[in-house]
Amino acid sequence: MNTSSPLTWTDELTLHQPQIDQTHQEFIDLMKELSLNMQSCDSALPIYQRLLDHTEAHFAMEEGFMAATGFAPDNCHSKQHAMVLDLMRQVLVHTHAEQDLEPMRNLLPELESWLPAHVDMMDAALVFHMNQVGFDPVTGTLSHPPAPAETAISSCGSANCG
Ligand SMILES: [Fe+2]
Ligand SMILES: [Fe+2]
Repeated sequence: MNTSSPLTWTDELTLHQPQIDQTHQEFIDLMKELSLNMQSCDSALPIYQRLLDHTEAHFAMEEGFMAATGFAPDNCHSKQHAMVLDLMRQVLVHTHAEQDLEPMRNLLPELESWLPAHVDMMDAALVFHMNQVGFDPVTGTLSHPPAPAETAISSCGSANCG
């Protein structure tokens, strides 16, 4: 069975933050590569492992940006990252143990629909906040740092976050 990924990079996914945009493009490319190599565990597992490694780095990068710009470690954006990684790791363990691709086949469309929603809500709010405080990801400096009395941010900053 060959299920080609329907998710492709579009301008609507662009957040105008080069590091994050490039990472999201790579994530989409890896999902597409995986979707084209789901014929067997031998073909799918190495790509899935690369996707998992890439996702760990992707989320760690964003969480580093959060930490540098005043987010609390337990903010809801980071919690959503943790849930996604947990699910991806469970699928990896299952696939290795059972040599069964069904959970991976089910996860792929879930990730494809999750990414645009996550970008639109949580990553966009992060980039907005980074711009507000004048964060430079290259140097790690803030040109408009928040007042010291402000408490750490625990919401993702999106309108849907309580
Ligand atoms: Fe992201
Ligand atoms: Fe994110």
